[in-house]
Amino acid sequence: MKVAAIVGSIRKESYNMKLARYIQKRYKHFFQLEVLNIRELPFYDQDIEAAPPQSVIDFKAKVAAADAVLWVTPEYNSTIPGVMVNAIDWLSRVDRVMIGKPSWIVGSSMGMLGSVKGQSHLRDILFASGISSPLLPGNEVYIGLVHEKFDGKGELTDEPTIQYLDLVAENFVKWMKEQSRLKGLQDA
Ligand code: FNR
Repeated sequence: MKVAAIVGSIRKESYNMKLARYIQKRYKHFFQLEVLNIRELPFYDQDIEAAPPQSVIDFKAKVAAADAVLWVTPEYNSTIPGVMVNAIDWLSRVDRVMIGKPSWIVGSSMGMLGSVKGQSHLRDILFASGISSPLLPGNEVYIGLVHEKFDGKGELTDEPTIQYLDLVAENFVKWMKEQSRLKGLQDA
């Protein structure tokens, strides 16, 4: 199974990027995770959406080729960061590659609530008509005080978080199998 990760922080020491890398390594027996580059995407612009720059073409092609998308988000001003909204706007137009593609959301912040408000907005956005992505139900992952849960080498060391993520990753894989069985029935 191929999963594309969209990480809502482009800073070098991003905890959410560290979380994406952790998931990539820890669950490689479940799925192959590719962390997509959203730094190179220009601002979404309706004037160029039909013939966008190569960075947009490549980004959309990778999402289109994935079996699912993992959204890894911080919270900025009680919502998701602009870089993530920008990526979503590109995905929602022209060939609308997210429609019907399953999603899984995780997120972290240095605050207590671990991006809960941002993730709530992201859930609503995934229902928008240009995205229409089925979302892994339940299994919310809010990693608060994230700076205390990774060590200096960028490894997740908080045991309860590790155990909870193991459970959610397993649930995600089970749910993905159900999704593909349902799709098979619908296509038959
Ligand atoms: C934040 N941060 C933040 N945290 C939070 O829990 N709720 C919030 O609303 C905000 N708002 C916010 C706005 C802006 C512009 C910045 C730069 C930061 C703090 C944020 O959780 C923290 O910087 C995380 O470490 C960001 O994620 P990465 O970059 O480490 O992945």
